[in-house]
Amino acid sequence: MPDTITITDDRTGKTVTVPIEGGVFPAAAVRELDPSLFIYDPAYMQTASCKSAITYLDGEAGILRYRGYPIEQLAEHSSYLEVAYLLLNGELPTTAQMEQWRFDVTHHTFIHENMRKRFVDGFHYDAHPMGMFVSSVAALGTFYDGAKEIFDADSRQRQILRLIAKTPTLAAMAYRFSVGLPFNYPDNDLSYPANFLHMMWKIGEYEVDPALERAMDVLFILHADHEQNCGTTAMRVVGSSHADPYSSAAAAACALYGPLHGGANEAVVRMLADIGSIENVPAFIESVKVGDGRLMGFGHRVYKNYDPRATIIKKTAYDVFEVTGKNPLLDIALALEEVALNDAYFIDRKLYPNVDFYSGLIYQALGFPVDMFTVLFAIPRTAGWLAHWQELLADGDQRISRPRQWYDGVGAREFVPIESR
Ligand code: CMC
Repeated sequence: MPDTITITDDRTGKTVTVPIEGGVFPAAAVRELDPSLFIYDPAYMQTASCKSAITYLDGEAGILRYRGYPIEQLAEHSSYLEVAYLLLNGELPTTAQMEQWRFDVTHHTFIHENMRKRFVDGFHYDAHPMGMFVSSVAALGTFYDGAKEIFDADSRQRQILRLIAKTPTLAAMAYRFSVGLPFNYPDNDLSYPANFLHMMWKIGEYEVDPALERAMDVLFILHADHEQNCGTTAMRVVGSSHADPYSSAAAAACALYGPLHGGANEAVVRMLADIGSIENVPAFIESVKVGDGRLMGFGHRVYKNYDPRATIIKKTAYDVFEVTGKNPLLDIALALEEVALNDAYFIDRKLYPNVDFYSGLIYQALGFPVDMFTVLFAIPRTAGWLAHWQELLADGDQRISRPRQWYDGVGAREFVPIESR
């Protein structure tokens, strides 16, 4: 069977034959047929917008790999910082590379005092931490001369380091501001996740529980990348205009903010709280089936099977609850999952729990308010965004993102003066 596709334009009888590689054929084939012919593909349902060697995802089989390594193995044996190195560099670090990377990230965690005193202090007292996060990521770029030197490899490396090192600091600062607590400076003696928990929670004496530190690290690993989702696509689209990485990452974080993307974990916890008790689960499922809202934390554009991250998160939830006590919403979540997985509506549409179904319960057990959930997603996803940004800049096939449209408005007409309308 030839690995080619032949397309015929029936209007002209013109035919082109192009290769299919890895299940993809170039849209240039359509251009060859007729440069004014376009493919209508809202939400990029059937469009590969780039080539990427970072994350492999098989939604039918429920497989997720970063640079070839299965997510299950990384979640069990690796750390977020090691995974960030892997995503950015393509290979796992040697001991010496890892030590240097850890040292570099640890020694870039502080932010300019003006960021806190002048910028963050200007927010309204009840500002949403995610709103504060996206704007402070963008603002951070204004502190570095080299931010715009995106074709200078050393400068790119410095900005990447800064973004990975400083996002937990910005996140903790947004939280502490939103609850009126003084800011905790980073502690360079702590690991990446422990330092974040320290900046979040320290009031007087505070020691990070190793089980919770590990859970935080696993959650960071699971959220580090997920190929061309809405946020990463925003990073690539903005990056394609050669904007600096802070502005591009802020755009990606804005995309993540929406309830259909990174905001879903927040929506799950609110939904579970609204359901209130196990007895209300069947009625809630029925209401979803008749189109009255969605079962948040279920369904995925790509996974048509159990999201492998959801399996790991469910296990991590139990590790956390050992320390914190069980989140009372867990029983409702388990009941919902059981009912949905056995219901024809969800089976027929291949709707399974996604990464957000259990993550919110862990975050809540760790003490995070729901407003912080998307911020917790954005911290580790920064590594993925930056890996895609680097890949984009090095990709000779890429140009500024500029899709075409299918105009279906009115045709040309004469302007009518206001008094005559
Ligand atoms: N609850 C009930 N019905 C659903 C759900 C859901 N969570 N998700 C999809 N459906 C139905 C939908 O109504 C449609 O039914 P029909 O064919 O009868 O019209 C069918 O399933 C296909 O849905 P879709 O909206 O075409 O699927 P999509 O690929 O456009 O949407 C999604 C994917 C994730 C936005 C959607 O499943 C959803 O809204 N889920 C709830 C929100 C959520 O959990 N989001 C987190 C996604 S994972 C984190 C991330 O990667 O950002």
